[in-house]
Amino acid sequence: MPEWIPVADVAACLPGTSIERVADGRMVAIANVDGTLHAIDGLCPHQGGPLGTGMLCGAILTCPWHGWQFDVVSGRHQVSPTVRQAVHEVRERNGIIEVRLAAADGPPEPLA
Ligand code: FES
Repeated sequence: MPEWIPVADVAACLPGTSIERVADGRMVAIANVDGTLHAIDGLCPHQGGPLGTGMLCGAILTCPWHGWQFDVVSGRHQVSPTVRQAVHEVRERNGIIEVRLAAADGPPEPLA
């Protein structure tokens, strides 16, 4: 079981915002959707843009480079159903955002 990795002060990711952090060498986009934290792989699969620095609207995070959009809850691209970011576990502990990374290789787990 992967470890929980502290990545940011909770104040760094207020509701309606997203941030970019590196956890164990992986770029992670953390988004706060109405007070609930979500985390997906932060490297855009299009050309490597920094998803965490994109615009968050509801649960949709838009890559700042060319506008690809992802649901931060499911990791799904909004147009191409076969494109999906890994979804990481995320929690807040004592004012610190922690993530537990999904497996680095292979496709994401199938959606229920
Ligand atoms: S790099 Fe993200 S949309 Fe192009």
